[in-house]
Amino acid sequence: MAAYDIQPATVTDLDALAELERIGFPLDQYSNERLKYLLKHANASSYKVEASGRIQAYAMVLWRRASRVGHLYSIVTHPDFQGRGLGGALLSRLETDAAARGCDRIRLEVRADNTTAIRFYLDRGYKVVKELPGFYSEDAPGLRMAKRLQ
Ligand SMILES: CC(C)(COP(=O)(O)OP(=O)(O)OC[C@H]1O[C@@H](n2cnc3c(N)ncnc32)[C@H](O)[C@@H]1OP(=O)(O)O)[C@@H](O)C(=O)NCCC(=O)NCCS
Repeated sequence: MAAYDIQPATVTDLDALAELERIGFPLDQYSNERLKYLLKHANASSYKVEASGRIQAYAMVLWRRASRVGHLYSIVTHPDFQGRGLGGALLSRLETDAAARGCDRIRLEVRADNTTAIRFYLDRGYKVVKELPGFYSEDAPGLRMAKRLQ
């Protein structure tokens, strides 16, 4: 896997991250306000890969006190940069950080029709643990996936 320079994302990146969200999740986006809240206040870690002043990919994971499960809230690579290992690098980084915080699992939800993302997660050790009927907008079904960390 190529080595990418992964940096913390902050509220100063809000506009770029909101744009990535719009592109990555045309059907189920978080509002800018929600994203801003998460970047500013939440018990969360956000990561970005930036080159030549452009954020190419980002991920956010939420932590909960007294929980050993990290919740992957969002991960998006701009379509211009997909398939180059950025998503994998971000996932691996947040898994390392989760383990360092004492988490033993990462969980996430994904649209059941998002075959690219499901394949991406399966290839990286995630398993489907639950079906989530009507989880997304317009009653679209989702899947919960999880990975046990070493
Ligand atoms: C899922 C996602 C984050 C993956 O990011 P990425 O930077 O493309 O990830 P990687 O390059 O590390 O891995 C992509 C995989 O697709 C393969 N791939 C090949 N050509 C590709 C292409 N043209 N575009 C995308 N992926 C391609 C890669 O080889 C890789 O396969 P592997 O699992 O065998 O290694 C990205 O597809 C995305 O942003 N999707 C839209 C948002 C989304 O669905 N997020 C997840 C929601 S839960």
